[in-house]
Amino acid sequence: MNAENQLQFAVERCPDPTPADQIATRLVNPAFGRVFTDHMVTIRWTEGRGWHDAKVEARRPFQIDPACAVLHYAQEIFEGMKAYRGDDGKISLFRPQENAKRFRASAARMSMADLPETIFLRAVEALVDIDRDWIPGGDGSLYLRPFMFASESFLGVRAAAEYIFCVIACPVGPYFKAGKSAVTVWVSEQYTRAAPGGTGAAKCGGNYAASLIAQTEAAAKGCDQVVFLDAAEHRWIEELGGMNVFFVMDDGTLRTPPLKGTILPGITRASIIELARHEGMTVNEVAYDFESWRADAASGRLKETFACGTAAVVTAIGQVRHAGGEFTIGHGGEGQVTQRLRSLLTGMQRGKIADPFAWVHH
Ligand code: COI
Repeated sequence: MNAENQLQFAVERCPDPTPADQIATRLVNPAFGRVFTDHMVTIRWTEGRGWHDAKVEARRPFQIDPACAVLHYAQEIFEGMKAYRGDDGKISLFRPQENAKRFRASAARMSMADLPETIFLRAVEALVDIDRDWIPGGDGSLYLRPFMFASESFLGVRAAAEYIFCVIACPVGPYFKAGKSAVTVWVSEQYTRAAPGGTGAAKCGGNYAASLIAQTEAAAKGCDQVVFLDAAEHRWIEELGGMNVFFVMDDGTLRTPPLKGTILPGITRASIIELARHEGMTVNEVAYDFESWRADAASGRLKETFACGTAAVVTAIGQVRHAGGEFTIGHGGEGQVTQRLRSLLTGMQRGKIADPFAWVHH
């Protein structure tokens, strides 16, 4: 048996679990990221020893030293994924192996411990299993947040020699305010998210920290999300604060910015590309510049734009604001292609329609 399979998870159930009636109350329209389940999974890594002390335990605060490396040099990565409860009661995950792979890639970029994919999956499955009563039915889901941080107490600047991997979970409804058929975005011309050679393709907390000033600016302009342009020319559309972006052209083709190291390789992004191609659409991973976006929206060459991600799922972008004004995309609401792709993806995730790709994991 190899080391990955030898790692045993000790299970210490929460001594005072949330009663069933209170869980039921908390599953009604939970605000994103505010309600948490009773348990968490933790695994430690120490140089020379590898992964050890795997535990499923009651969710509780960490006790960390003020010199804990992550507090100083931000070695931290995370994933976002969801568990679904189908109408038949069956619990599923969506392409969890892809999250496990991306987690390894993020860890490599941030010089962190390499977590084997099997351990990542076992940890996620263990949490979903123990907290299965927290998985909402209907349109809700259980958002899973695997993450890892440098836990060594040391102020020298080098890759830490100790890490903690953890998985927590929260029941969620829609990321954006319920009932919104399309969101408004702000194009940041002042701030950029990632530069070539930087950490843009890694899912590290630092990328999100750096995006917050632009997201705050977006909110001040009455927008739901920020759109980042490339760092070199401030011209090419890259991604939103926490999601990828697609454009639907009048000839029926889709386009999305290519992955060149500055964009997060979204699993929803990859799924939309495959799904759309499977539906007979042409998808081009090609750069698209802000001026063309504006001109094409005005001329009607561009029909729809949507954002996608685990949290956002597929969300239409109806209005675009920027320093020089604003423009509307299509009729300002959710277009037909966005709607179709959203319902195909969510239908598959929730077991309502067939999954020809074997993406759904029970
Ligand atoms: C996700 O979609 O899972 C994300 O990580 C985006 C955001 C909530 C940080």
